[in-house]
Amino acid sequence: ALVSMKEMMNKGKKAGYAVGQFNVNNLEYAQAILQAAEEEKSPVILGVSEGAARYMGGFTVVVNIVKGLMHDYGTTVPVAIHLDHGSSFEKCKAAIDAGFTSVMIDASSKPLTENIELTNKVVMYAHERGVSVEAELGVVGGEEDDVVADGVIYADPVECKKLVDNTNIDCLAPALGSVHGPYKGEPNLGFEEMEIISNQSNLPLVLHGGTGIPTKDIQRAISLGTSKINVNTENQIEGTKAVRNVLLEDLNVYDPRKYLGPMREAIKETVIEKMREFGSSQQA
Ligand code: G3H
Ligand code: ZN
Repeated sequence: ALVSMKEMMNKGKKAGYAVGQFNVNNLEYAQAILQAAEEEKSPVILGVSEGAARYMGGFTVVVNIVKGLMHDYGTTVPVAIHLDHGSSFEKCKAAIDAGFTSVMIDASSKPLTENIELTNKVVMYAHERGVSVEAELGVVGGEEDDVVADGVIYADPVECKKLVDNTNIDCLAPALGSVHGPYKGEPNLGFEEMEIISNQSNLPLVLHGGTGIPTKDIQRAISLGTSKINVNTENQIEGTKAVRNVLLEDLNVYDPRKYLGPMREAIKETVIEKMREFGSSQQA
């Protein structure tokens, strides 16, 4: 069923697992992720960046792709369609109006008071419609679509407390050293801050930049209240590898299904691995 993230995250937090957010870039991604979730009996979050929505045609197209697949697949596990890194109230509203069940308002580049104000406005609109809201503080490194950072800034626990106390968000993404895209060397996650932020807010925490984080760090993050982990790049890398292999092996291939099918399979396998690593398998 198409639902908000609230219940799946709270369940995960209680039971000690995290739900994966896997970003959707096209039809095959949506297929792969929904197939993996059903096979693993795992709740799942389909993340859609503004750039990816643009690429696919718009928010309504994405919602209808997902709804259509869930109908024809007979999906039984809980699925959320979530706007990833929403850049404004207007974008969040447009996604919600199109049928998204969850949104992230990423006002992390704004001063705290503006972040709080904007986040509140989104929460008000979203909650009236049963839609969950994620907010962010600090700076996630690296680059993803329209979200480009030139460094990493660890979220300040004091600011996190203010944001949580003054908004009614459903989950918080404190940037604590994670990076969009591949890491240069080992990630250096701020677990001390994570513990403080988790204890003082009691909200499910979100870990962005899930690609390339060692399993021991994933497990530690989950033990400290991280209940949502975002993964995009790893699916892109594995999917593209599969396409490249087919095209290099046979220069006469022209039917897109011959290379996009293997891409879909590779993404599905990657998502299944993550669901097992995050502990969400068999929890739906
Ligand atoms: O918002 C999406 C995620 O934070 C994805 O990060 O591409 O490094 O896996 P990633
Ligand atoms: Zn992110």
